[in-house]
Amino acid sequence: MPIPETLVYVVDDDPSAREGVAGLIRSAGLMAKTFASGEEFLAAPQPKMPGCLVLDVDLPGLNGLDLQQKLVKSGVQVPIIFLTGHGDIPMTVRAVKAGAVNFLTKPVDDEALLNTIRQCITSDQETQLRLGSDIQSACSLEDIVGESNALHKVLEQVAIVAPTDSTVLLHGETGTGKEVIARAIHNLSSRRDRMFVRMNCAAIPAGLLESELFGHEKGAFTGALMQKKGRFELADHGSLFLDEIGDISLELQPKLLRAVQEQEFERLGSARTIHVDVRIIAATHRDLSAMIREGKFREDLFYRLNVFPIEIPPLRERREDIPLLVNHFVSKLSRRMGKKIASIPRQAMEVLANAPWPGNVRELQNVIERAFILTRGEELELPIAELHPTLERGVARCSTSSFRQAECTVIIEALRAASGRIAGKGGAAERLGLKRTTLQNKIRRLGIPRASYQG
Ligand SMILES: Nc1ncnc2c1ncn2[C@@H]1O[C@H](COP(=O)(O)OP(=O)(O)OP(=O)(O)O)[C@@H](O)[C@H]1O
Ligand SMILES: [Mg+2]
Repeated sequence: MPIPETLVYVVDDDPSAREGVAGLIRSAGLMAKTFASGEEFLAAPQPKMPGCLVLDVDLPGLNGLDLQQKLVKSGVQVPIIFLTGHGDIPMTVRAVKAGAVNFLTKPVDDEALLNTIRQCITSDQETQLRLGSDIQSACSLEDIVGESNALHKVLEQVAIVAPTDSTVLLHGETGTGKEVIARAIHNLSSRRDRMFVRMNCAAIPAGLLESELFGHEKGAFTGALMQKKGRFELADHGSLFLDEIGDISLELQPKLLRAVQEQEFERLGSARTIHVDVRIIAATHRDLSAMIREGKFREDLFYRLNVFPIEIPPLRERREDIPLLVNHFVSKLSRRMGKKIASIPRQAMEVLANAPWPGNVRELQNVIERAFILTRGEELELPIAELHPTLERGVARCSTSSFRQAECTVIIEALRAASGRIAGKGGAAERLGLKRTTLQNKIRRLGIPRASYQG
């Protein structure tokens, strides 16, 4: 049975080995994410802890062992499976001393690798859950960047509600920072030294959600090979973050209501009632009131959760925060990757500040990371044409002074990428999401010469 939400990270500089391992992992029903180097791995925003890490020992730059030690130093204790070549014995010895126990020699036997991955994941799921939440709990109000009034209002509410035990319901579009706020509430509460347990109600198949929440006894259902504690139990005396609460099925809602309200429940396959003391923080991007009207969400559960609602505004309603966030992400990446970016061109910043950001802070973060990786000099290079359509719309909102220039840049880059072709599949018009005639008119109006994108 695949383990829900289990992610395996693969770091290997050899693309064929990397993709081979990732394919194998996926074929076993697990999720895989690949990285070509230790630096790339460290720079990637990691929304959740992997179940384990498959690491090539012999990486260029930061080698596997250095990466392991960096992780240990920053408190990340993820099980690591090292893949070694025959000549890596001294390295292997050092790794063993550093506490790594899983070694497989290349060429790796598929069955052996899968078995080791499964062992790593299942043997210590609880510990990982605990460590995962510990590691990420280093988030307080100082880590939340932004000076807009809208964000200040949110933070004021956080400061008011955090010390109480009240249930909080966070509402906001995707990527607005719901999880960041949930962690801040936990970290500002008297529960900060206990667990912050996260449960994504949308990511787990409905059939497994109940046992994830409340746990199960051995043999409670086919596949329940061991007794397992649910997240309510793990979060005892701490906080339970119920993410995507709007995605929880109607059938499970009464049970959840009881657990939230009475702080009691039974593990699947057991009649014994377990009592806990858990602070609930729930989040959703859905309109729960509309769901109640449609009969998809129970009103009683809604009122029980909606004790202290906090609305997190979308990024487009707090554009003042964008430059601060951009600087924050750039300096964070600089520190992590050891690469210096001295400046961000004014025009690039204006494009960023004006883009619509439907994916909010997360989307902005991803765009900056991509730009950072692609930048060769000390000035951040925004690959505007590639980052379309978000940025193109940002360009369209720019003030007229830099607007023409920015628009030219976008169009020229799109034309270059399309080898000068305007129409058809992969043509500049399609790349820019414009009609062919609109693009032709723009080229004419802006006086973009052929020489700027051909030859
Ligand atoms: N104010 C902020 N300052 C710094 N980083 C932020 C801020 N808000 C969000 N982020 C970063 O943006 C990313 C998205 O935030 P988060 O995961 O909390 O959003 P979310 O609302 O839970 O998103 P989703 O709906 O996709 O789950 C994270 O990497 C987070 O660290
Ligand atoms: Mg989230």
